[in-house]
Amino acid sequence: MSRRRVVAGNWKMNMDITGAKKLCKELISLVKDSEHEVVFCVPAIDIPAVVEETKGSNVSVGAQNMYFEESGAYTGEIAPSMLTDAGVRYVILGHSERREYFCETDDTVNKKIHKALEHDLIPIFCCGETLDQRKSGVYKDWIKGQIENGLRDISSSDITKIIIAYEPIWAIGTGETATSDEAQEVCKLIRDCIKDLYSESVSEDIRILYGGSVNGSNSEELFSKPDIDGGLIGGASLKADFANIVNS
Ligand code: PGA
Repeated sequence: MSRRRVVAGNWKMNMDITGAKKLCKELISLVKDSEHEVVFCVPAIDIPAVVEETKGSNVSVGAQNMYFEESGAYTGEIAPSMLTDAGVRYVILGHSERREYFCETDDTVNKKIHKALEHDLIPIFCCGETLDQRKSGVYKDWIKGQIENGLRDISSSDITKIIIAYEPIWAIGTGETATSDEAQEVCKLIRDCIKDLYSESVSEDIRILYGGSVNGSNSEELFSKPDIDGGLIGGASLKADFANIVNS
């Protein structure tokens, strides 16, 4: 078992092109010695500038969404081939903010994962529960459902190309991180779920990240857990602190 760690920044709807270039310059030099997979998932309009800035570095570029059709009359959407053509390698799919504000469902997320794989994009597939679901104890079944539905009909040869990100909604942007034990519990549950759906060896190979108020002070403890293979980082990815996370 040798899973390469991934630290992906999710810039969300932050940084215009000028700001994006500046942030790249600052962060690239700080993470240049990392052996982890480092990804900046940036707003679509920043992609060409960030691809240019990251050229020759150890940082890859990701998008935050894409559509599941090849092209056509889908005003406002971005096709997978447009992403690959622009130099994008990763795409976040099913983030809770997309599910909450833009009506994404397990079904649309599943279609997007299939389409991303067809185009050799690496999906960063997000799942996570609300605070109510955690408090009432249904969160484990909820996460299992998201995993099973989101990964429907994904073949065993494709499954390990996917990166799964466990992001409890109550921990996103709130400063309230899950404890490392809470995060480990669900990341293990996801790995067990993959074992049931595929096989033990597949479950040992797939990368599972934790996301939700990760910063340079808590990342080491979180990433030391056996089933946590890195992080999806929101707020802290816009600051030099991102490098502390990458280097932890
Ligand atoms: P946060 O966001 O690190 O700001 O909590 C994480 C995410 O939404 O991916």
